[in-house]
Amino acid sequence: MSKLVVHVAGARPNFPKAAPVMRAASDLGVAQRLVHTGQHYDEKMSEIFLRQLDLPEPDVNLGVGSASHAQQTAAIMVGLEELFEKWRPSMVVVYGDVNSTVAASLVSAKLGIVLAHVEAGLRSFDLTMPEEINRLVTDRLSDLLFATSADAVAHLGNEGVHPSKIHLVGNPMIDTLQANLHRMDADRARADHGLTGRYAVATLHRPGNVDDPGDAAELVKAVHTVADQVEIVLPLHPRGRERLDAAGLFHHPGVRVIDPLGYLEFISLVRGADVVFTDSGGVQEETTILGVPCLTVRPNTERPVTITHGTNRLVTRAELPLAVADCLARGRASTWPVPPLWDGRAGERIAAVIAATLG
Ligand code: UD1
Ligand code: UDP
Repeated sequence: MSKLVVHVAGARPNFPKAAPVMRAASDLGVAQRLVHTGQHYDEKMSEIFLRQLDLPEPDVNLGVGSASHAQQTAAIMVGLEELFEKWRPSMVVVYGDVNSTVAASLVSAKLGIVLAHVEAGLRSFDLTMPEEINRLVTDRLSDLLFATSADAVAHLGNEGVHPSKIHLVGNPMIDTLQANLHRMDADRARADHGLTGRYAVATLHRPGNVDDPGDAAELVKAVHTVADQVEIVLPLHPRGRERLDAAGLFHHPGVRVIDPLGYLEFISLVRGADVVFTDSGGVQEETTILGVPCLTVRPNTERPVTITHGTNRLVTRAELPLAVADCLARGRASTWPVPPLWDGRAGERIAAVIAATLG
């Protein structure tokens, strides 16, 4: 009987990372299944990614939905434990830093299943971020640690992870970006949104920006000051909608708040933007490859390579309007450095290690 690999995904950023790994593993004949935890469930946060990125239909959707961290993590663990005991996989592959990632890691480790973490070693060193806790626990438990950048490899080394477990493979999220670039039409996106001049694209959903009413008010003030300079399209994650609405986000004619976009529609819009501001992890990476100036509205980033090799810059909420003005004045660069190995082949490298490990 061939050895089974189970991939666990559940939140929006997991899907563009899993797609190239599953495709490459399938090309190598690896027997695999996909479990969707149901952490994200809106059509535009989940289903559209599976469709657009040609992911296989999940073998199981645990349908856990939204809840507190403990409830959500526990529900995923209970569901996965039952499945893994039934399926007896030889390896579980987890992605990124969301609650689905850490839940699957805990279950796999306790059942003695080989655990592979895609996007290992990223560190913000900010334990107020739930993702940082998820990263630390997942990496501590993983047997195969797939890193996107040299800084991630160094963090794992500093934490005592044996070098034989660490594989610097590049960035599978960028595989997805490059594989789909020909489907991303910036002119069409501009027309669809009725944009005639320069525009900014924004995404904002981190608890540190949107959960506290004071932070949300400060953020909205900054966004409105940006909108005095340039039109903003803001596909809003459901997390912050209520708070940002209460803080008056919608009350500026230059801010177009829309529902989350499908992957192709979103990147098409980003591709033609004059500037992006965001608190997303993945968007920092995608703008780096697309050469679109990116302002990350956070005090830190676990993706410093997007600053040293890309288009990213950290700003406070108060600094945002001037930073946007600066980006608009400079325009987009015609050349820029990109991180090593972000070449569209990370999925193949990961799949090769997975296949070799299965033996
Ligand atoms: C999660 C991840 C975060 C990631 C983000 C990507 C954790 C701890 N956080 O945050 O790292 O950047 O996903 O998008 O895993 N909701 C909906 N529909 C959905 C999903 C969520 O309305 O399909 C709403 C619910 O009100 C929910 C809230 O969004 O309570 C937060 O969802 P949750 O998955 O808990 O965390 P995210 O903020 O999405
Ligand atoms: N994204 C999307 N539609 C949107 C906003 C984001 O397709 O309206 C994509 C984005 O291109 C990237 C991924 O979602 O591939 C990032 O997810 P998110 O920002 O939710 O999570 P993070 O990366 O911060 O964990």
